[in-house]
Amino acid sequence: MAANTAAVSLTVNGKPVTAEIDPRTLLVQLLREHLRLTGTHVGCDTSQCGACVVHVNGKATKSCTVLALQLEGADVLTIEGLAAPDGPLHPMQEAFRENHGLQCGYCTPGMIMTAVDMVRRKGHDLDDHTIREQLEGNICRCTGYHNIVKAIAAGARAMRGSSATSKAAE
Ligand code: FES
Ligand code: FES
Repeated sequence: MAANTAAVSLTVNGKPVTAEIDPRTLLVQLLREHLRLTGTHVGCDTSQCGACVVHVNGKATKSCTVLALQLEGADVLTIEGLAAPDGPLHPMQEAFRENHGLQCGYCTPGMIMTAVDMVRRKGHDLDDHTIREQLEGNICRCTGYHNIVKAIAAGARAMRGSSATSKAAE
């Protein structure tokens, strides 16, 4: 082991990963720079935008706020792991596509990971007020949110009874 590095082992999108990293490495850096999972975005340096949201042990987490070394043994799910590689889109991804819930797409991975966790916590019948309140930690600079809210409501309904619900909530 090099002098200024430490090893961390965790599961990312169902695969065991061990990385030798600078102890200051953030989870988002581990994902993007070491594992090349660039679907998780960085949109700010103040922990406000939510473009970096992934699931850690089933819960939506801003990956720019966590040191990778804190995640020994953790289970991390990124946007790349939400749907099976050769399968259809996750119902929440499909709902964003159908409802035009994106424009530039920069905020979208974080929005979708937040939305899936929202369904886990708040259920499948989400009203506009709840969705808007729950999106407090996610910023979109393009859409005005209307279609994102519509997409999340539709995605939440579509996740009812879908195996994707339990997979993402594991
Ligand atoms: S990059 Fe994590 S909240 Fe903005
Ligand atoms: S679609 Fe552009 S930031 Fe949300």
